[in-house]
Amino acid sequence: MNSKQIIENVFWVGAQDFKRRLFDSLVPTPDGTSYNAYLIKGSQKTVLIDTVDPTMSEVLLQNLVSLNITKIDFIISNHAEQDHSGSIPFLLRQYPEAKVVTNEKCKDQLTHLLNINPEKIITIKDNETLDLGNFTLRFIFAPWVHWPETMFTYLQEPNILFSCDFLGSHFASTDIFSKDLDEILPQFKLYYAEIMMPYRAQIKSHLQKLDTIKPAIIAPSHGPIHLLPSRPISAYKQWASDNVKNETVLMYVSMHGSTEKMANHLLSELTRQGIKVHLFELSSTDIGKLASALVDAGSLIFGGPTVVNGLHPLLAYAAYLVSMLKPKARLITMFGSYGWAQKMQEQLLNILSSTKAEVIPGVFCKGCPNNESMQALSNLATEISHRHKSFGQESF
Ligand code: FEO
Repeated sequence: MNSKQIIENVFWVGAQDFKRRLFDSLVPTPDGTSYNAYLIKGSQKTVLIDTVDPTMSEVLLQNLVSLNITKIDFIISNHAEQDHSGSIPFLLRQYPEAKVVTNEKCKDQLTHLLNINPEKIITIKDNETLDLGNFTLRFIFAPWVHWPETMFTYLQEPNILFSCDFLGSHFASTDIFSKDLDEILPQFKLYYAEIMMPYRAQIKSHLQKLDTIKPAIIAPSHGPIHLLPSRPISAYKQWASDNVKNETVLMYVSMHGSTEKMANHLLSELTRQGIKVHLFELSSTDIGKLASALVDAGSLIFGGPTVVNGLHPLLAYAAYLVSMLKPKARLITMFGSYGWAQKMQEQLLNILSSTKAEVIPGVFCKGCPNNESMQALSNLATEISHRHKSFGQESF
């Protein structure tokens, strides 16, 4: 796909990767992704903001050639991760007079990740500006979007914020603009869940910066450019807030059906109590959908059988994912079936040891669940419902 004009002298020159199905060998990208790079033709200086994944360097070059770009003065690096920085060495060979502009932390990463000559890198400080003639760029440090060196680049006069991974989405499309967030909401939420959610505290601070700037256009590093930024900003404000919804994520795996009976009973009891249940059978679960469901849930429930003498590996994986993504759920509990050994709860809580959520003791039964076990599960559902109601009316 060719370059596209955003406003006069400001262009999208990135690459659409329609085929990519997995990111970081972890994050599902069912709709592909884009690596957004932006070119600004100032009256005195020409600037490229970020590059593309190194697998698509030639696409970026062709976009620049199609715009007759024979000289680049500065390549701004908002983020050292290779899907945005990986083509910098290639670009420096094509445009040897170009200098890379970034912050000290990013310089350190670029030199170690890509062996870029430090003498080619100019470092800037937070809020420093760069004069392009008729345009002015301002660099706004935004650490932990989602690496420590990340920053925003703000094009002041036309009020465009190049927001790095912040407010991005893994979504490849020939339409690079978004006016209606609903059209990309699943991809936008999945991106938040998998990439941003562990950094909720920092997100709140970045959102405050955006409230000050009030950008007219937000151009992230992945997915469509937001022409109406208020809605994606509101979504991040809701997701990053401490408010939870009257929803639970019920993750389970079963070997011979006992745990599944317990899961189904809990599902029906929780639903009867008015709680929306996101049910995931872990041997067939899409990890992206699971991550998205974690964003708003008030509680998390883990169910599994005992294998050898402990946790089923699929449940261990789900618990590790939860521990890594740090959802804001306020309650955790568990259930399961065992034969002769019972270390599942202990092992699960070890994996979840960093969570701040309260743990409600789980329900475990030997073999197939009997009436007593089912009653204990009903009581557990009632307890969860009471706790959800105490989380605050604004969440319901
Ligand atoms: Fe899209 Fe953190 O790189």
